[in-house]
Amino acid sequence: MEPEIDWDSLGFGVTPTDYMYVMKCSIGDEFDKGQLLPYGNIELSPAAGVLNYGQGLFEGMKAMRREDGKIVLFRPHENALRMKIGAERMCMPSPCVDLFVDAVNKTVLANKRWIPPAGKGTLYIRPLLLGTGPILGLSPAPEYTFIIYASPVANYFKEGSALRLYVEDEFHRASRGGTGSIKSITNYAPAFKPVTTAKSRGFSDVLYLDSVHKKYVEEVSTCNIFLVKDNIISTPSTTGSILPGITRKSIIEIALDQGYQVEERLIEVEELVNADEVFCTGTVVVVIPVGSITYQDKRVEYQIDENAVYKRIFSTYMAIKNGQLEDKNGWIVEIN
Ligand code: COI
Repeated sequence: MEPEIDWDSLGFGVTPTDYMYVMKCSIGDEFDKGQLLPYGNIELSPAAGVLNYGQGLFEGMKAMRREDGKIVLFRPHENALRMKIGAERMCMPSPCVDLFVDAVNKTVLANKRWIPPAGKGTLYIRPLLLGTGPILGLSPAPEYTFIIYASPVANYFKEGSALRLYVEDEFHRASRGGTGSIKSITNYAPAFKPVTTAKSRGFSDVLYLDSVHKKYVEEVSTCNIFLVKDNIISTPSTTGSILPGITRKSIIEIALDQGYQVEERLIEVEELVNADEVFCTGTVVVVIPVGSITYQDKRVEYQIDENAVYKRIFSTYMAIKNGQLEDKNGWIVEIN
């Protein structure tokens, strides 16, 4: 039965779907078998590691319905690998890549009716890995739960809008040696304060600087950042405090394939002033241009013209996803 949803007014929020995938594992064991359960609340000990010490990771991915009805995922193995790397850092067991991808497939199929029609949005998939066993001392939880839930979504930022970014120089997203390069749940709530303040001043999101020199661009709360100057594309290198985004990686690969020079390097915040273009990438935001950046009360505006570099790369990226361009790299995984 079709869900009663007005697909045209879909935003980015939680719409409960039919099923979630749940799999448990004790410390020292391996995840091996999960099950689909009706979507609903989970029961947790108040002493759960995730509640007390934030031992948790999340992933974000999208299942998309194409015009021809095929349902596809984009590079799901990359999410599985990123969760594995994050789990190692957070002392958690994690599902192997095949088990992760199989669980995602099962979750998508079980919630198939919630995948928006082609062009109306996607089914956002949230794999979580949580320390759910009780623990009082400061150490890894004795038991872990891997959960996947899904929700139909459309744009995070208003369709066709350009981001108005505020460069935050008081709060930082990640420290050297910290967890900025993994999708630890603890990286996100600290953004609430600077983002809430920035939004109240009319900005869309916050751009963070490195916490040591306070002058190198890192990333935005919800996405990675790129700048274009004289047709050279630059983005902060993923050397510890920056999330290795899968959209980021794909955009770099497409840009190189199209003959652009791409530099992953340190980028001083002052460089943004002279950039020809700035854009952001992420699973949720996809690829979005930046319209202005405000740093220390100086605002730089960017013209977003028809021939913008980001548009060429973005249209290739979307054409691969939509099946209009050959998937030479094997990025697309069809679900059936
Ligand atoms: C994603 O793009 O999957 C994210 O994690 C963004 C989220 C923080 C809104």
